[in-house]
Amino acid sequence: MKQLFIALSLLFLIACQAEDKSSKQIKKTSNSAEEQRIDALLSKMSLEEKIGQTALRGSSSSSDGGISEEIIEDIRAGRIGAFLNVMDPEHMQELQRLSVEESPNGVPIVFARDVIHGFKTIFPIPLGLAASWDDEQAEICGRVSSIEATQAGIRWTFAPMVDICRDSRWGRISESPGEDPYLGELISAAYVRGFQGDSLNAPDAMAACVKHYAAYGAAVGGRDYNSAELHESQLRNMILPPFQAAFDAGVATVMTSFNDVNGVPASGNSFLLKDVLKGEIGFDGFIVSDWNSITEMIPHGFAADEKHAAELAANAGLDMEMTSESYENHLEELIKEGKFKEAELDDFVRNILRIKIRLGLFENPYTDWSTPPVYYEEEHMAAAKTAAIKSSVLLKNNKSLLPLQQSTKVALIGPLADKGHEQLGTWTFDGEKTKTQTVVDAFEAGEANFNFVEGLTHSRDMSEDQFKSAVRAAKRSDVAVIVAGEEAILSGEAHSRAKINLPGAQEALIEAIAETGTPIVLVIMAGRPITYFDYQDQLDAVLMTWHPGTMGGPAIYDMLYGIAEPEGRLPVTWPKTAGQLPLYYNHKNTGRPASAESFVPMNKIPVEAWQSSLGNTSHYLDYGFTPHYPFGYGLGYTTYKYSNLVIAEKQLDKDGTVKVSVDLTNTGSRAGHEIAQLYVQDITASTTRPVRELKTFQKVKLKSGETKTLSFEVPVSDLSFVGADLETHLEAGTFNLWIGNNAMSGQKGSFELVD
Ligand code: BGC
Repeated sequence: MKQLFIALSLLFLIACQAEDKSSKQIKKTSNSAEEQRIDALLSKMSLEEKIGQTALRGSSSSSDGGISEEIIEDIRAGRIGAFLNVMDPEHMQELQRLSVEESPNGVPIVFARDVIHGFKTIFPIPLGLAASWDDEQAEICGRVSSIEATQAGIRWTFAPMVDICRDSRWGRISESPGEDPYLGELISAAYVRGFQGDSLNAPDAMAACVKHYAAYGAAVGGRDYNSAELHESQLRNMILPPFQAAFDAGVATVMTSFNDVNGVPASGNSFLLKDVLKGEIGFDGFIVSDWNSITEMIPHGFAADEKHAAELAANAGLDMEMTSESYENHLEELIKEGKFKEAELDDFVRNILRIKIRLGLFENPYTDWSTPPVYYEEEHMAAAKTAAIKSSVLLKNNKSLLPLQQSTKVALIGPLADKGHEQLGTWTFDGEKTKTQTVVDAFEAGEANFNFVEGLTHSRDMSEDQFKSAVRAAKRSDVAVIVAGEEAILSGEAHSRAKINLPGAQEALIEAIAETGTPIVLVIMAGRPITYFDYQDQLDAVLMTWHPGTMGGPAIYDMLYGIAEPEGRLPVTWPKTAGQLPLYYNHKNTGRPASAESFVPMNKIPVEAWQSSLGNTSHYLDYGFTPHYPFGYGLGYTTYKYSNLVIAEKQLDKDGTVKVSVDLTNTGSRAGHEIAQLYVQDITASTTRPVRELKTFQKVKLKSGETKTLSFEVPVSDLSFVGADLETHLEAGTFNLWIGNNAMSGQKGSFELVD
């Protein structure tokens, strides 16, 4: 019977996946064997147990380190559905035993954790992985994370985070796929595939949780937890696509965000949860709140008290509550008072049970602890190293200073050159610095000709005590490699910054080294773009490695010495100064677009100039109108030429496909990787459209001197957008198209869309 059930569930899963692909929607699953099983179970559950399934608790311990008596009683009574951050194997085993064997209906617990970019083997931070423009890398990261974390009993991860973000001050940009919805879609779906594997009920699969729904990355001013004020069309065009991609990939769960969206906190937002997620999208997994985000609706000024918060969240359709206990304390009363319907609670429980069933927890509730877990497997470490290489972006390389010769005498300097903990980045609860290979480790292993002087003990260090020895080392060397940036704790949740430069005395250290005249290679490790426009002339080469993870050191070594080439391209616009933020490539043109000709810099304005709108365009007097580096930008160790752009048909109808080709030539002296990016602009529309939008791209490997003709296809339907009237539009007119290597360059053409 059990086998039959598993077979039916599998068939059902396969059927669902096939259906997903064709309909691009996850359909509700009525009358399936799964639904019948859920209903049978639900009919036996008391109101208390049903409410219990909605409870996700953050701790199980008593002060003496054991399991607290209260928790034991709660589980026995069926009052807890899930735990996060319980990691003691004995506790996990006992909590599960209590739930399966002693609670009224034996519903298993699901154990959750933030496994964001690796469990033990840590991959680059998600913003870094997005810089690879390689969804396979994100999928591999997800897979390795699941293989490792499930051995520790974790079957549910709070990832991927897919909040599109246009403001690098926001600390959590480090966790995001960057500023572009299309790139975000690819990366989002890939993580889900990686975490969830081929089948959720495989013991090495974790349920993924796409978060934070919605618009958390649109926090005003980049200040964490801040409000998001945006038109619904922007929500639909920019914020929701990566979520939709996760749903299409079958993501099991969704997390609400902390912020309010146009005045309504996400955790009490029935438009977002009921209308869009459960209604339009037909999501059939479950929705979990963020940490206390239900009761935080009180300080938001939306709920009067805990009971009111529970009423608002429940009626908005939020299935499970993380850490706060408003459902447990008030749902029964709210149901009795007719303020919330038990039938709706039943739906919450159905959604939760559905995922527990799909995870196979009823059949296999226990983790197999009989064999010790195997972490940091050779192939996992190799994958993490490859990911770090593919994620790193070469921003500057004057006179081809990089790659270095093996014989080059290097002064290796900087507070992050040997900091195993820092290079792991944010959200790495389980990564171990002792297993992390730093740049110094890699230089030692590679027998580089180098001398290491830290210069500063950490990224915020203000002491110049070590500057003299750093300067001395630089003077005696051919090149100074300075590994600088932000410690892991300076980005991530609650770590927004108003200035996004190198903190501490790092800029002073660079200046001191620059005075020696020794060429400088700056290797940045950080959770966000770091501004260095004002002193860029002091730097000969700049390599952005984000927080590169466990294998960051060997990856950086290989890139510096040309054993590998940095392959990443920016997933976010890199500002000259934080004052330009928010800054993003897919902005609107405005009625007065800036240009090099129109721009009037501040020092060109005559003293006592008469009031006028000098320049008359949309720019900053001090920092102009361009970023330091555009979205999509990144160098390699060779050069490329784009030529011969051909658009097959210049007139297309709405069922058509834009077919375009371009010749790409490697004009340099070594083989390399290029990411050829296709952008379009809908020049005139019923709602103003961005100056460019990324529609597709190709990663190509070319030998020196080789030319390849690249062919791209963009279905015309991909040119549609949600207008100010909230209708979907696909409008006739002229479109510009570019293929090139960033959002501000490329071979240009145009085509007409006709009715
Ligand atoms: C974060 C979530 C995270 C949760 C659980 C919250 O503070 O916003 O992203 O999953 O904590 O750790």
